[in-house]
Amino acid sequence: MDRRAFLKSSAMAGAMISFSGTKAWAKSSDARIEIFTQEPVGEISPNIYGQFTEHIGGVIYDGIWVGENSKIPNRYGIRAELIDKLKQIHVPVIRWPGGCFADSYDWMDGIGPVASRPTRTNFWEVDPDAKRLHEKGPQIFESNQFGTNEFMRFCKLSGAKPYLAANVRSLPALSFDRWVEYCNSPAGSTTLAAMRAAAGFPAPFDVQYWDVGNESWGCGGNFTPEEYASAFRRYTSWVPHYGIDLQFIGSGPNGGNLDWTNRFFDEIYSKPAYNNASFTGWSVHFYSSVTTRNKATDWKPEKGDALQFDSVDWYELLHASSQIEQIIQDQWTVMGQYDVTHRVKLVVDEYGPWYREGTELDPTHIFGQQITIRDALATALTLDTFNRNAEKVSMATNAQLINNLNALFLAHEDRFVATPNFYVFAMYAAHQGAQGLRAEFSAPDVEFMRDGQPGHLWGLNGSASRKGNVVTLTVVNPDVAKPTDTQIALQGARIAKASGTVLAAGDIHAHNTFDRPDAVKPVSLGVSINGGLLTASIPPGSVSKFEIITG
Ligand code: AHR
Repeated sequence: MDRRAFLKSSAMAGAMISFSGTKAWAKSSDARIEIFTQEPVGEISPNIYGQFTEHIGGVIYDGIWVGENSKIPNRYGIRAELIDKLKQIHVPVIRWPGGCFADSYDWMDGIGPVASRPTRTNFWEVDPDAKRLHEKGPQIFESNQFGTNEFMRFCKLSGAKPYLAANVRSLPALSFDRWVEYCNSPAGSTTLAAMRAAAGFPAPFDVQYWDVGNESWGCGGNFTPEEYASAFRRYTSWVPHYGIDLQFIGSGPNGGNLDWTNRFFDEIYSKPAYNNASFTGWSVHFYSSVTTRNKATDWKPEKGDALQFDSVDWYELLHASSQIEQIIQDQWTVMGQYDVTHRVKLVVDEYGPWYREGTELDPTHIFGQQITIRDALATALTLDTFNRNAEKVSMATNAQLINNLNALFLAHEDRFVATPNFYVFAMYAAHQGAQGLRAEFSAPDVEFMRDGQPGHLWGLNGSASRKGNVVTLTVVNPDVAKPTDTQIALQGARIAKASGTVLAAGDIHAHNTFDRPDAVKPVSLGVSINGGLLTASIPPGSVSKFEIITG
């Protein structure tokens, strides 16, 4: 009997049963979670809790960079409130400068004295959204006030490692070598090291993570997989290392495109085999966006709205976001046909819901959108998926940190607010560097009517990890209406103490604004321990975290 049938026929009828032989479940509950403390699934890389930042709309200018002479509290020109918040979530890595912008960016424009840096046309000048912008704004004409030095400062102040995306579409391979040289050549060694020192940074930045192009199948050059494989060989061969364990991340598929991965790996591994130990990452970009149930015909209206949605749209978005699990499995399988030892891991360096325009805070915020509790659930279930696939996913960066798509923060001029996504990253930080554990979630599916047809979505899902005697369990309850009475059992350990935290809201559209910054924020969740089981009532439409002390 499969698990779902088992739940419906037996447990839901209230029978006393023994589940895996060691724990007796209580008579009535809606759901059960069993954590196998002796069954590790791999160490959860802290780097999967990374963020992505691009020179687009309000991300850099208005979001991160306010300028040294600004009245807005700043450190070296960087918004101080943002730095403080990033430290709270232990941000491990930040990707920059794009995105599509990366393949139009010359890093040389962003170094040297700020006053003599050139102004260039921003990649996003071509975007239809750019029409509404002030024609001289930095979103159209890039001022290069924020360049490599400023980004490195931002990372250092926030406690993050830098992850740089190199331009493969419009700069030669030599320029990539030179960027590595500028960042990593030792103090006093090269002309570029001297330029770095003149800017106040004598010590190398020691950048380890390098993205070799961005979306090379699209804005990054419209390459075929074979052409991109050829470029990848040229850009990554004989790059100076300066003793740094460089990690090259190849530009992987759009969502679940297996053809791109198959053909690239075929070229790299067999025609002839290219054994570069620094090729350790394969990026995946996955945005969840189809929320109008295919009623619309053209591209834009097909994207749903960030704030105007019903409960079916809620489930659709969560269902769409859940597809990341299958993408990870499928990509991993294809990669393993060539890379049999799985040296190359997945790097999901752009992900999150993507809605149509209209909820951005300011016209300059291209791809800016409001973030509701629904997005917090989408983000949480994505992070849980990465945790469950800890041996496959080595890094991930959320698109994007501020004022864009799945933002953790919204800011305009002197106003700043943390979105529900920030609280998800705060709650999930406990998983960073922990040992992922196998966990089974048994709950009836959520069932709903989808335009006259029955639809369903999993009832509860999440992930578990262990650090010493602390087990962290995170859980998403997608049901818009019903709390889920849940029993939690640890196999192989005794629950000594436990506490719960929950992010939930009475309204599925709830979001934080400058005027109501605390509309959605975590509160404590009551738990009890009975007969070796932890029990809690998990609120509808919520993200929960349980801290379980064993002993
Ligand atoms: O995150 C916004 C854009 O989405 C990025 O620039 C690009 O890589 C992706 O298509």
